[in-house]
Amino acid sequence: MVLGAALFGLVFLMVQKIWAQHGPPPQSSIWAVPGAVVSKGSAVTIFCRVPPGVTTVCLARLPPRTVWYDGTTQGAQEVFEFSLQNITQSKAGVYFCAYFNGSQWSRNSKNLELVMTGE
Ligand SMILES: *[C@@H]1O[C@H](CO)[C@@H](O)[C@H](O)[C@H]1NC(C)=O
Ligand SMILES: *[C@@H]1O[C@H](CO)[C@@H](O)[C@H](O)[C@H]1NC(C)=O
Repeated sequence: MVLGAALFGLVFLMVQKIWAQHGPPPQSSIWAVPGAVVSKGSAVTIFCRVPPGVTTVCLARLPPRTVWYDGTTQGAQEVFEFSLQNITQSKAGVYFCAYFNGSQWSRNSKNLELVMTGE
């Protein structure tokens, strides 16, 4: 019994260590220019910053879940941008970024809440 418990504890510790080493890649950061509060019909650009070398980035919105892949990069390779034109209520909502590092998807970034004013 004691041996079994010790063995279980050891295996548990090892599994935790494997998770710690092979957890998903770190979060990206997300922000909006000119800001997260936009007036109806205007444009906004959402930026996602990812680690160097990453080429697959997605911006997703929920709900209803909508996903845009492959924003464009300008200047700094680590910053991807997604332009949203002609903002309507259907484009408002909660957005987040995630990226694929070649073997795994990252954790989701923090949420960015895009709010439309002037309805
Ligand atoms: C992707 O991220 C995982 C977890 O952080 C890491 O183990 C792996 O080496 C990364 N792959 C590449 C190609 O960078
Ligand atoms: C913006 O969206 C509204 C509502 O869908 C549409 O009536 C208008 O033509 C659009 N304007 C442009 C410039 O796309």
